[in-house]
Amino acid sequence: MEQEKRGQWGSNFGFLMAAIGSAVGLGNIWGFPYKMGANGGFAFLVVYLFLVVFVGFAIMLGELALGRKTGMGVVGTYKTLSKKFAWVGWIGFLSGFFILSFYSVLGGYTLRYSLGFILELLSSGTGFGGMGSGEFFGSLIVSGGTNLLYHAIFMSLTISIVMGGISGGIERFTKVAMPALFIMLLIVIIRSLTLEGSMVGVEFMLAPNFSAFSEIGFMRVLKTAAGQMFFSLSLGMGCMITYGSYLSKHENLEKNAMIIPIADSIFAICAGLAVMPAVGAFMYQGVEGISFGQGPGLLFVTLHQVFSVGMGGFVGNLFGFLFYFLVFIAAITSAISLLEVCAAFFIDRRVEKGLDPDRKKLTIVVGFIVFLVGVLVCLDGLGSGVAGGAAIDPPGVMFGMKDIRVAFGSWLDFYDMIAEGIFMPLGAILMSVLIGWVLGTNVVKEEVELTPDVQLKAYKFWEICFKFIVPIGMCFVLMGQLDDFFGLGIF
Ligand code: PHE
Repeated sequence: MEQEKRGQWGSNFGFLMAAIGSAVGLGNIWGFPYKMGANGGFAFLVVYLFLVVFVGFAIMLGELALGRKTGMGVVGTYKTLSKKFAWVGWIGFLSGFFILSFYSVLGGYTLRYSLGFILELLSSGTGFGGMGSGEFFGSLIVSGGTNLLYHAIFMSLTISIVMGGISGGIERFTKVAMPALFIMLLIVIIRSLTLEGSMVGVEFMLAPNFSAFSEIGFMRVLKTAAGQMFFSLSLGMGCMITYGSYLSKHENLEKNAMIIPIADSIFAICAGLAVMPAVGAFMYQGVEGISFGQGPGLLFVTLHQVFSVGMGGFVGNLFGFLFYFLVFIAAITSAISLLEVCAAFFIDRRVEKGLDPDRKKLTIVVGFIVFLVGVLVCLDGLGSGVAGGAAIDPPGVMFGMKDIRVAFGSWLDFYDMIAEGIFMPLGAILMSVLIGWVLGTNVVKEEVELTPDVQLKAYKFWEICFKFIVPIGMCFVLMGQLDDFFGLGIF
């Protein structure tokens, strides 16, 4: 009865689309290509895939099983499992809350860029005010009003989907959006690969080359790949616990825990194949301001240059629109999972008390508070000196950009540091300690095997990964993040 009130996925396919939608986001389409670009291409890819197998799969299965076992969101799950570890749930809740507050602002940018290319299609010079790529981005981030508007639109859309509930809102949207996203991505890949000189980018990504290990350092590549892997898989903050809590006992958790990381990695590689060949092609053709290792500026500056100057004209605007709209879809399917993590806590509490969940009202209230917290991100120009932010070169400071060694350079950096930098790896470490060492890995095995005729086939492999590799790997990530944020110089 309680489970019915909270909601359930209509089908396993629907669940998979929602979970893959959560995983595939700005992390894949923005973070993955630029981090790969800055960390040696192929070498990074290999390390990344290793980590997905040995760390990603293990945490994914653990989270899905815990969620389904307790039938509650992240706060309720930890409270049920252990009084001592109850606070870990709050870490997850707060991570979701803070990530969403800046994720939505960035999602708003993708809307602005999509609209820009449409306007350019209709009448040239209207979409981006006749400005160059760097100039436009620089002016956008300091336009508080514009940022607020797009942040508000993005948040409203996210709220309206989550309000519809698990199967009627999230599943209904992601079931259509994710296949559409994949098709759009394929179209952009084909365009990208057929550009003159595109092989320069393909080679960079796929031709075996491990020189990065000696040039950049193996440890650096490893820690960047590890941080990227668990953010990209939406792990460590209870998102998969929450989504798992809406799964029925008939679904095979082990299979699902394999499919989600595989799909997420395929999307990340596809995003690389959409971006790198295009960047390589215009580097090859000598278009100014384009190179692989340009860091976070890749999404909003380099790629804008690729579409508006490299391709140019009607085709450039069309593909520009298609690409940024695709990024918008990827971002919103992640945003809804972040909002669901927060909303689920309040819904669970009401259901526990035997009350009507009141999902609509709660989602609006929680979403509105997230919006308010994000207002600060809209107004400080990403740390460029507006409204009291530290004076830093504008396009430099944004999500994932920790090579600028200024902690708290912007509100976005600050939220990102709390959530992605500290809470998420800490959450993963504590989960591994609680399940692996306090309660015992049987908790997960038993939950998986509740499904009729299902045996946890990879139990031994999973157990070793979960008990040993996950905590060691995540300590490493935590150190790496702190090193980046505070410029400690450990790596
Ligand atoms: N996985 C998402 C991305 O790659 C981000 C995210 C993190 C979403 C944590 C939900 C929870 O962009």
